[in-house]
Amino acid sequence: MTDWKKIRDKFPALKEYCYLNCAEGSPIAEEVAGAAKNYYDGMKAHGDLIYEEWLDRVNQIRRDVADYIGADSDEIAFTTNTSSGMNVISQMLRGEGDVITMRDEFPSSTLPWLHNGYPVRFVEPVDYSYPISKIEDEVDSKSRILVSSHIQYATGFRQDLDKLSELAKRHQLYFVLNATQSFGTFPIDVKKQGVDFLCSTGLKWTMSGYGIGICFVSKEMQERFKFPAVGWKSVEDPDLMDNTNSEWKHSAQMMETGCLHFPNIFALGAAIDLFNQIGPENITHRILELSQYAVRKLQALRATLLSPIAAEETRSGTLVVKVRKPEDVKLELRKKGIILSKRGGGLRISCHIYNNFEDIDRCVEALKPHLIA
Ligand SMILES: Cc1ncc(COP(=O)(O)O)c(C=O)c1O
Repeated sequence: MTDWKKIRDKFPALKEYCYLNCAEGSPIAEEVAGAAKNYYDGMKAHGDLIYEEWLDRVNQIRRDVADYIGADSDEIAFTTNTSSGMNVISQMLRGEGDVITMRDEFPSSTLPWLHNGYPVRFVEPVDYSYPISKIEDEVDSKSRILVSSHIQYATGFRQDLDKLSELAKRHQLYFVLNATQSFGTFPIDVKKQGVDFLCSTGLKWTMSGYGIGICFVSKEMQERFKFPAVGWKSVEDPDLMDNTNSEWKHSAQMMETGCLHFPNIFALGAAIDLFNQIGPENITHRILELSQYAVRKLQALRATLLSPIAAEETRSGTLVVKVRKPEDVKLELRKKGIILSKRGGGLRISCHIYNNFEDIDRCVEALKPHLIA
């Protein structure tokens, strides 16, 4: 039995706030902050002398991230956020064909493609969901790339990755996954699910703070397409510092063009360690349990939910509820220490492993006078 109280105690922010807003940005655990601080302490005391140790730690974290999503470590690059990964991907696939994506994707999923001149076709939602058949209706002979979030930020809709990947395979589409709203908490197996590219930030569900993202590029895609940017670190042996050498790395690390952002990567590493200690399945189960509890409480008050709640497999840790004057209510709740965000036409409640049932009771009680039936 997981001791959720002990896990909550690792997050000092939860002592002060009823924090239900990890979909925007999550508080971090003591050991995550400690991992970043260790780096600064090391730099303070020893300058660059422990650089090699840091590189070893980066490679360990790369393996841990890869294991977490069923990838090989040479398919993982560290980035700073989701958008930086999506830009690389959209430049790699330039000229390949048209893009299909979802109407209410976060702009990081769509703007890089529009900027790079791809024709983009948007699939319209049905009851806050994207049924596979509806996506398939949009595929035509020019479609080559499918870009989708695993979990939609504005509704919490969770896409079925097995089915989406079957669709991609059937129509020979490159499958690009934005895992920002799921990475760390809902299972992803890039090999099994035929994901070609994936990008995410560590800020939200991965509880690692700002400045860290990951990008997965499958081996096959690395061999087929060219990375759009390189630097001295992109070659097999950067220490040669040969300014004419272009023996590129045979890995996604080729896109890590220069020196890395160690503290942010170490923070991510500590968060993944924590996830592994708790157990990924346990985490998913807990998050669904909490969000389901919120659904029941809100339904009992006849609140209108702007999220797909009918089918269990499309649910996530995110729930949007309709209120009068969402911005005002958000600010009113904030004064009471209850932290939500305004998204998807209402207020978004996102539950993570540090939350408990009392957080939800407190939040629902405060929302009560503002709910729209
Ligand atoms: C689905 C999704 N993608 C991307 C982002 C953020 O992008 P970035 O990490 O580039 O800041 C968000 C933030 O809300 C998001 O919900």
